[in-house]
Amino acid sequence: MCLLQELLSHALPDTIEFELLHLQSPPRETHPIVLKRHQTTAVNNVIKSQHFFVLCSNKKVFYALEIYVYVTVKLSEVVDKLVFVSKADTNGYCDHNVSIKELTRVLLEYVLSIDPLHYLSKVLKLSKPQRDYTKAITQHTTTRRALRILKNRVSICQRYTPPTELLFSRFDRISPQWSCRLCLFTRSEPQYLFSESSQNPKKHVLPGNLLLKWWLSVVDQAITDKFDSFAHARIQIPGEETSVIDKYLRNCKSPNWEVGDIFNGEREDLAIFRLPVLPDDPKGRFLEQLVDEGRAKKVHLTDFWTELQIQQEFRLGATVSVIGVDGNLKPFTSHPARDNEIISPGSKKLFNMIKCYITGEEYDTEEGAFDAYANITDFLRLRFNRTLTCIQGKKISKRVVSNLLPSSGLNNQPLPFEAQTLSTTLVRKRPKK
Ligand code: ACO
Repeated sequence: MCLLQELLSHALPDTIEFELLHLQSPPRETHPIVLKRHQTTAVNNVIKSQHFFVLCSNKKVFYALEIYVYVTVKLSEVVDKLVFVSKADTNGYCDHNVSIKELTRVLLEYVLSIDPLHYLSKVLKLSKPQRDYTKAITQHTTTRRALRILKNRVSICQRYTPPTELLFSRFDRISPQWSCRLCLFTRSEPQYLFSESSQNPKKHVLPGNLLLKWWLSVVDQAITDKFDSFAHARIQIPGEETSVIDKYLRNCKSPNWEVGDIFNGEREDLAIFRLPVLPDDPKGRFLEQLVDEGRAKKVHLTDFWTELQIQQEFRLGATVSVIGVDGNLKPFTSHPARDNEIISPGSKKLFNMIKCYITGEEYDTEEGAFDAYANITDFLRLRFNRTLTCIQGKKISKRVVSNLLPSSGLNNQPLPFEAQTLSTTLVRKRPKK
């Protein structure tokens, strides 16, 4: 049994069988996520990879989690690992009493614990045109142009196998002081990864304030479990008074929580040189907007957070927050990730294609969850001769969830597999309405 199987089994209800897809995109070199004011002499290499987890039961997918990892290498040593939790989503088609919070915590702690060197063994580099001098960011590049270059960098990569001496001389050392950072942005939406799932009346969507508490509790537990006692834990709710934010921290177990962010900026620092640009991140979109408006060199960190709340994405009265942790992991926390617990497609294109079997489906009815499961299992079998990872739950649960009650005859009675199976060379697709 692999480590992740063992960890998840304790978070899933006793005797019930689940299946897990753990996809990881090929790590590739990417641009620094924070814009540098001056070119420093020591060049940092930043390696990025995406984890995509999907949980299934009764031949239906029901949960997905998207996490990005950025590993920074400086002077031949790993100095930082940043874990960015991008999206968690459910579709409401789970027939069992599963604590999604517990599931999310286990997966997050698992990713936090993966040894940073795991990401550095097979790295895809940026393709040559992007390394072209005219597109490079130097100390002469204006902020406006630099951000535009970052924004427009195409994602086409070419396979790059580092020469052996590079692999062993550059990418096998970890600084004893390497830091681990975790960051996420909480905003409730009817759906993120399961399109049309908001139309499923059984889907449970936490409203903004409860989602914030939910994530706080997940991260708080992860701090206690994985970080040493000196870690900084921060929360920022754009536009909210410190006293109000403090109230959210009352129930946290870790004493390290404070109002603020982990980006180490002073109030008067320019936001553009302090805040990271992460995938699909509203902070990053606002930074780009500042550049377009020619205000990038005028907006300081304090003004940034105040102005951010006026943005469309923050305006609708829902509580949104930016949560972060910065520190060192407890000794012996890091572990290597084993091949049998990850499906690693050889290219970003293939990774996206497999992910699309989940995210490209429509989940307004249960059929979407069945189709996604059938497509993904067929594809893995045919292309990789692999199956999803089976997990037998071991947790005795006390929770009773109302959505266990079947509203249609399909609940608790999955369609026979043969009834769903088309030709194995074809992708099942429901006729569009
Ligand atoms: N009816 C009533 N209460 C329910 C139901 C239901 N059907 N399902 C769960 N609950 C209760 C649980 O009992 C639990 O209550 P407790 O805290 O008192 O124990 C609480 O809701 C949370 O239950 P979980 O199983 O932990 O989580 P949930 O099923 O709500 O899933 C999730 C959480 C994934 C955020 C879900 O709300 C969702 O899919 N939201 C839509 C997408 C979204 O907004 N994602 C977050 C984006 S932010 C980010 O990912 C960084």
